[in-house]
Amino acid sequence: MASTTVCKNAIHAPQSVLHLLARLHKQSFEQEEILKRPDGGYNVISDTLKSDPANTEAKRNEIMLDKFIALDADKAALVYSLIRATGALNVVEAGTSFGVSTIYLALAVGQNAEAAGKTSAQAKVMATEFESSKATQARKYWREAGSSVEPWIDLREGDLLQTLKGDLPVIDFVLLDIWTPMVVPTLELLEPHFRPGTLLVADNTVTSASGYQDFFKRISAPGSGYRTLTLPYSGGLELVTYWPKA
Ligand SMILES: C[S@@+](CC[C@H](N)C(=O)[O-])C[C@H]1O[C@@H](n2cnc3c(N)ncnc32)[C@H](O)[C@@H]1O
Repeated sequence: MASTTVCKNAIHAPQSVLHLLARLHKQSFEQEEILKRPDGGYNVISDTLKSDPANTEAKRNEIMLDKFIALDADKAALVYSLIRATGALNVVEAGTSFGVSTIYLALAVGQNAEAAGKTSAQAKVMATEFESSKATQARKYWREAGSSVEPWIDLREGDLLQTLKGDLPVIDFVLLDIWTPMVVPTLELLEPHFRPGTLLVADNTVTSASGYQDFFKRISAPGSGYRTLTLPYSGGLELVTYWPKA
């Protein structure tokens, strides 16, 4: 079952941010319970995939337009901990929605930057969302979260295959939390900016295994440089590291 309780012992954040996260995780959970009903959005999407595959993307976008589908709280706490522990300064989030996971990423990047004496010009979460109504609402939540979060986010609004084409630093960490057909194109776009040891986390790699087939093919290809581990979180959480041959 999805974890919705904020892992307060894992995250250093102002009380107001912890309260905001608890509120947003609760809303996301309530929406997901409705999505999972027999007549809910997840079944509508999988039925469309069978009956009218060409319309699946449009149907998914329509159903998900007002949905958080936020990363589970325990996964988000792990992501926060990995970023803090590795000192990552440049993080890409593929799929931002209403920006719940982004709050964790920004807390971690901001704290790393402060520890390393870097400014927000030198450390960023590059968040990505193509639905402008979601991007607008995400910005409101980040404003509400305040100075431990908002300054560390560079939201790139639009199709990430366009918005991440330019102006990318060397990337330390990637969160892949996006529709599965976008995963490999995103990886191909970002890979030239990886360094030895870049970390990637991908969500729901067990429950969405069929959607991740091409991703697994790509990262397990001989010479790809990737190493991967499926962590036993709800739905499966992939922890990937990049070690290209010199
Ligand atoms: C699973 S949600 C992200 C949830 C978010 N990471 C969180 O934990 O709060 C995936 C999001 O990716 C967005 N998305 C899908 N395809 C995209 C694309 N090509 N470019 C940018 N955003 C995209 C969707 O609109 C959706 O809001």
